[in-house]
Amino acid sequence: MKNIKKISKVITTSLALSLVLSACSTDKASTDEKSKDSGNKGKKVEVVYAFGKDDTGATLKIIDAFEKKYPNIDIKVREMPADTGKQHNSYVTAFNAKSDEIDVFELDVVWPAEFAQAGYVMPLDRFIQKDGIKLDEYNEGALSASKFKGKQWALPKFIDAGMLFYRTDLVKDGEVPKTWDDLLKQAKADKGKGGTKFGYLMQAKQYEGLVCNAVEFIASYGGEIINDKGEVVVDSPEAVKGIKKLVEVATSDVVPKNVTTFAEPESHTAFINGQSAFIRNWPYQFALANDKQQSKIVGKVGVAPLPAGDKGPAAALGGWQAGINKNTDVPKEAWTFLKFMAGEEGQKIDAINGGHAPTINKLFDDAEVQKANPYFKDAGFVNALKSAVSRPVAPNYTEISDIMQIQVSKAIAKEITPEQAAKNMQKEISSKLEK
Ligand code: GLC
Repeated sequence: MKNIKKISKVITTSLALSLVLSACSTDKASTDEKSKDSGNKGKKVEVVYAFGKDDTGATLKIIDAFEKKYPNIDIKVREMPADTGKQHNSYVTAFNAKSDEIDVFELDVVWPAEFAQAGYVMPLDRFIQKDGIKLDEYNEGALSASKFKGKQWALPKFIDAGMLFYRTDLVKDGEVPKTWDDLLKQAKADKGKGGTKFGYLMQAKQYEGLVCNAVEFIASYGGEIINDKGEVVVDSPEAVKGIKKLVEVATSDVVPKNVTTFAEPESHTAFINGQSAFIRNWPYQFALANDKQQSKIVGKVGVAPLPAGDKGPAAALGGWQAGINKNTDVPKEAWTFLKFMAGEEGQKIDAINGGHAPTINKLFDDAEVQKANPYFKDAGFVNALKSAVSRPVAPNYTEISDIMQIQVSKAIAKEITPEQAAKNMQKEISSKLEK
């Protein structure tokens, strides 16, 4: 039953693309008219929700709960690529064509400034005010990531921070590595134990996830990309140390030989198949590793902060927000769905079934949420979320990210040294910021 429903709900990306290409443009005036029509008595209103592949299945559970509560709204799912960069490009294509095919969609924490500037998203302030949404209950960092020029363009659904997951049957609690050097040593010793093929898994493919891994290495040695004055400061001894350590880990024999093809899906799949002692990933890894349907390591997973460099451990700040297509023809219903998903009910379902860390702070104290994610009780984890390191905030963030992806990939491939990578990033990112 579930599968049938799932299939009928999912419109594949290729179909989505053809719909986008054939979509005609809708101007705002006619949009408002259509919105009124959509209130037809007795008729179900369809809201198309686009989001990246969710292996935990939590998103479909949120939709089920929503449709039970709002039987007059039918959510149609459009599954987008799991890779955030590819997902980004699909939205840009659709929204540049002023397509109204997608109503609600998810935004990576690094996109709101760009999407607001480009006019792809609808400001939510009037809805928020009208419905008295208590913004002060939300995590400040996550909320401010969806603010731009004084307006709220999206609401945060969950917050991500990079963490170290390990196999509790191989690594004892007291032996969890504290530094990158400890990790390398221990991953080497554990590789091959308990059927594992690898010691450590990370995301070293040339894509956004590599930027997150790089930000963590760099920050763990005290380096930054852009400082809080907006100056590019990546050509520093600290950042170079971080890039060096990243290259050392990514080219060591504890990671898969083809680690430069690993994004989140490749790494989490290898981990839940019992192939590695350690993995760097986002909080959803915990729920996935404990999912009896998919995982071979249920009950054998521990969580810790990522290893430290000279400065200390550092986690990259990630997460996803929900926004409304500016050209939607069903803004009212789109908001009703967004409000549910990013509100307490939706986030609770997501935390329990998807292992996602809520952005509504009080949900960390919820007994059911804590039962599903025992480490949410840990003050260290909640603090790690609060102190997670942001990627540069800029409307042209994707250009900055592309520069980092290319330079760090070249360093991993040993085409350039970490010093050269830092110099190139400094020069190229500076030229993008001057524009
Ligand atoms: C996760 C994070 C997101 C990040 C992406 C990189 O989805 O939430 O912020 O950009 O991973 O792969």
